[in-house]
Amino acid sequence: MQAVILVGGEGTRLRPLTSRQPKPVITLVDRPFLVYMLEWLRGHGVQDVILSCGFEPTRVREALGDGEQLGLKLRYVVEPEPRGTAGALKYADEQVGGLAERFLMLNGDVLTDVDVTAQIAQHEATGASGTLGLVPVDDPSAYGLVLCDGTRAVTGFLEKPAPSQLIGIDRYYISAGIYVLERSILDLIPSGENVSIERSIWPALVGEGLYGSHAESAYWMDIGTPERYLQGTFDILEGNVRTGVAELLGDSYSHVAEDVAAAGRIVPPAVVGAGSTIAAGAHVGALVVLGQNVTVGENARVERSVVLDGVTIGAGAEVVDCIVAPGAVIGDGAVLRGGAVIGDDVRVGAGNVLASGIRVFPDTDLPPGAIKF
Ligand code: GDD
Ligand code: MG
Repeated sequence: MQAVILVGGEGTRLRPLTSRQPKPVITLVDRPFLVYMLEWLRGHGVQDVILSCGFEPTRVREALGDGEQLGLKLRYVVEPEPRGTAGALKYADEQVGGLAERFLMLNGDVLTDVDVTAQIAQHEATGASGTLGLVPVDDPSAYGLVLCDGTRAVTGFLEKPAPSQLIGIDRYYISAGIYVLERSILDLIPSGENVSIERSIWPALVGEGLYGSHAESAYWMDIGTPERYLQGTFDILEGNVRTGVAELLGDSYSHVAEDVAAAGRIVPPAVVGAGSTIAAGAHVGALVVLGQNVTVGENARVERSVVLDGVTIGAGAEVVDCIVAPGAVIGDGAVLRGGAVIGDDVRVGAGNVLASGIRVFPDTDLPPGAIKF
């Protein structure tokens, strides 16, 4: 099976995590995000993957190469300018000399274990031209809302519905960004233009062979904001989503690299990368990822957080519900909480208090005690 994965977005909602790394390869627990998608797809018989990129994907190529290590074939298509979700598909078709008769198309930012094999089987059984993977949510306003009839034929598609377009039910089905498509779909997309598949193509296909495949109990998360990135991390650590990390963690729900020097406590679920040190009296966990070469100072506390490679956390500092990007230095006694996101190589001086979802951009130098908020 062939799959086209769209990775052309800039990931602006994840900044500063995506200031230096594109969204497809930001580290999620212990591997580049896209590796989760590729491992999941490989498990459903996908062997040929085309990554549709909006700009030169140097970092993505460096991280994933030609896919050999992952056991599949990976190709890259780079748009001359952003073509939109449908325009990108059309361009990929032209660049690879024709996509397969039937293929998968995916948004490149979903962490999921949806049963694509079942979705393909339904697609074949109904003779659909397109089958959208659907997942239930309480609030569909940030997604594509999909309405279906009793035969699962799509009767309406509303991208980012306004409150007035909602019908006041508890559970809505949204498009999961997982599509099984027939080649014929490509005939609907003009060449060389910026076209949105959500706004132009799905509405045009309503009543014309577009179906929904309801994934009731699967895990599904668009990791495109810091809150959802953290939640996705926790769900991987807890085993709420089936991933390769679960095997690594095993029954203890923790993985501490062999050479880690830990005088303090590690409370599972937790992952601690190679070369890290945890000083006496420090407390790491639960729900913590420490990357490689992270230093946690004496009596520091790290809880419900992701701390990426090479970060130094000072003595007595507190990091709770936060994301700290590679190379940052957190001063003694500093407090990070409430969803703060600290960018690459930021220096947070001693005694700062950063909370309330604050985002500090790469290389910022905060003098001691500069912010207490
Ligand atoms: N190649 C390319 N070119 N890729 C693009 C472009 C483009 O011009 N624009 C967006 N993408 C990629 C993004 O990188 C992402 O992987 C995917 O297309 C979807 O774009 P998002 O910006 O993440 O869209 P969204 O999350 O607001 O909404 C989409 O996903 C929802 C599920 O998460 C829509 O498809 C919704 O209908 C859907 O419910
Ligand atoms: Mg998205």
